[in-house]
Amino acid sequence: MRISVFRKAHFNAAHRLYRPDWTDERNKAVFGLCSNEHYHGHNYEMEVKVTGEIDQETGYLIDLKILKDLIKEHVEDAFDHKNLNVQVPEFKNLNPTAENICYVIWQKLRAHLDDKYELSIRLYETPRNFVEYPA
Ligand code: NI
Repeated sequence: MRISVFRKAHFNAAHRLYRPDWTDERNKAVFGLCSNEHYHGHNYEMEVKVTGEIDQETGYLIDLKILKDLIKEHVEDAFDHKNLNVQVPEFKNLNPTAENICYVIWQKLRAHLDDKYELSIRLYETPRNFVEYPA
């Protein structure tokens, strides 16, 4: 039987949306307040969804302790209370939009999750604005 389990997590982080190859004017026109050169912060909330077959021996899809530890090590410890542009290598040359952050989280967790599982990430940048990968 296929089933999905979810784990919620959160991190606080600062970012700035801009392209260094654009003028300040163009960055402001496209990214507005989000291009503030002094950065701004968000309380990011995430939902990690893992889908697959229930293990007949344990009755688990996945041990949630394992999933919790994966999220802590690869997402929370890497992003929490960080300036994403400056301190997180994945965003050195990648604009830290909610879309890109969500995809980076998916990549990081996917690399450490058994292939037998499907993985989906929903990332809330604000309570009303959120993204999901895969679409
Ligand atoms: Ni922002």
